[in-house]
Amino acid sequence: MLQQPGTKYKAFEPIRLQARTWPDARITHAPIWTSIDLRDGNQALVEPMDVARKMRMFETLVKIGFKQIEVGFPSASQPEFDFVRKLIDEKRIPEDVTIQVLTQARDELIARTFEALRGVSRAIVHMYVAVAPIMRRTVLNLDEDGIVELSTSRARLIAAEAAKYPETDWTFEYSPEMFSDTDLAFSKRVVDAVTAVWQPTPARKCIINLPSTVERSSPNIYADMIEWMHRHIARRDAVILSVHPHNDRGTGTAAAEFALMAGADRLEGCLFGNGERTGNLDLVNVALNMYTQGVAPHLDFSHIDEIRATVEQCNQLPIHPRHPYVGDLVYTSFSGSHQDAIKKAFAARQEGDFWEMPYLPIDPKDVGRSYEAVIRVNSQSGKGGISYLLESEYGLTLPRRLQIEFSHAVQRVMDAQGKELGAADLWTIFHDEYGIDQANGLRRHTIEAQHDDARGTVRVRGELAWNDATLRVDGRGNGPIAAFTGALGAAAGHELRIMDYQQHAIGDGADAQSVAYIEMRVDDSATLFGVGMDADTTAAAFKALISGVQRAEKMGIAPRGAAQSRAAADAVAA
Ligand code: KIV
Ligand code: ZN
Repeated sequence: MLQQPGTKYKAFEPIRLQARTWPDARITHAPIWTSIDLRDGNQALVEPMDVARKMRMFETLVKIGFKQIEVGFPSASQPEFDFVRKLIDEKRIPEDVTIQVLTQARDELIARTFEALRGVSRAIVHMYVAVAPIMRRTVLNLDEDGIVELSTSRARLIAAEAAKYPETDWTFEYSPEMFSDTDLAFSKRVVDAVTAVWQPTPARKCIINLPSTVERSSPNIYADMIEWMHRHIARRDAVILSVHPHNDRGTGTAAAEFALMAGADRLEGCLFGNGERTGNLDLVNVALNMYTQGVAPHLDFSHIDEIRATVEQCNQLPIHPRHPYVGDLVYTSFSGSHQDAIKKAFAARQEGDFWEMPYLPIDPKDVGRSYEAVIRVNSQSGKGGISYLLESEYGLTLPRRLQIEFSHAVQRVMDAQGKELGAADLWTIFHDEYGIDQANGLRRHTIEAQHDDARGTVRVRGELAWNDATLRVDGRGNGPIAAFTGALGAAAGHELRIMDYQQHAIGDGADAQSVAYIEMRVDDSATLFGVGMDADTTAAAFKALISGVQRAEKMGIAPRGAAQSRAAADAVAA
């Protein structure tokens, strides 16, 4: 790269526009959308679409709700011609959809374009002429007068050809190609000359399409240019002002939105921004931006993943995982603080509320995506995401301190594996951490309420499998949990103190399970959680206690005194 890029590249000139209005404007309604996937998009493909892929694209565009679709460049090649004929001959064009075709300003190509359209009920014929100085000098070898003459003579020819096919309702479109690289006064001159030929009226408008064929300036400059044209061109009330932004600087969407604010009526672009070089305007992006501002775009992306699959198949190009609104990762948060905020906002949200969700500009469900991918866990994640996944996928609402404790277990696995973990992985880790070993567990138990017993009101007796031995447990307390805590502690050789106890149901009806989370102090050495699940609430709490003691022993807290030897024999604790 150059140390002094100014020796090679010129900065774009600001536009002298007095009292520009577009910065204060709002987009309040949808523009006329025109898909050019089958023309500009198709021309940009490594492997252009065959007939089957074109037809699939056309049908998808119709289903989304496009009413204007540029279907090709029929004078450019036989396959392009044949596709237009196929649409017409096989009556594939719905009543409310208008097809558009592109042509160069050359006599034989214009005639061939009309031949391709013979018999169609409605069509837009789109002629383009390069108008920028670089093209005039190096490609066309024409001065400004020459460009005006070329444009107007071929505009006349288009009108004459159209008159030969009165059964068709024609609309004419003119694009001064490389408008964004052209002096505004000249763009106005050539556009006015063309509309003077076509004589559009408010009832029968023509389309003037102003492309940023190569996006070379920031979008505010393009907006200024559009507002200037909007204010200055002749016959404005008889013109549909259209824009056609490309995306070389990565600001095609901003350019289109600013252009709408500046007075444009119509947008040409492609699904997900396919097109030459860095692409055409991404129409999905603009439509969904509009949607998130409460403006109905009248394009339907309720099943955006299906549309993406079709577009990927038709274009044979993958869509980036971070592509706005559609990429695989765009509704996913890995960062712990983001996850925490989303989780809290979801919990606070009431049905019917305005969508105010941190880190999610749109409700993924509106475009057919689920909340499953909203939070995913990797090494950047914290307890928020982990507990969100366990709650949303498995119904576990972990107490806050357990979230912290469990996140350490997850972090250990993550550090060892170094990859993203899904909800099922978290469930496995949770199970490994808090699930009770096969060898341990309460085989059977009875609970007796002894209201008159001075030492406690409840007695729990049972038989516990513990480290391959069988222990008898017997304890009393002011409730079953207290009774079992004492019994288990004595049998297993630990002093247990309950610090916190929470319980909730998972599911409902006959299949409902109760899950108990018990935070306990073991032998004054460690404070930790045990978790138990059972259809019976008391059994769930007992299992949580067993889970906690088992975890304590795994962490190296050995049973006290004779507990080890007692574990080998039957034991009674009371
Ligand atoms: O980008 C462009 O200038 C074009 C024209 C043909 C409209 O695609
Ligand atoms: Zn283009």
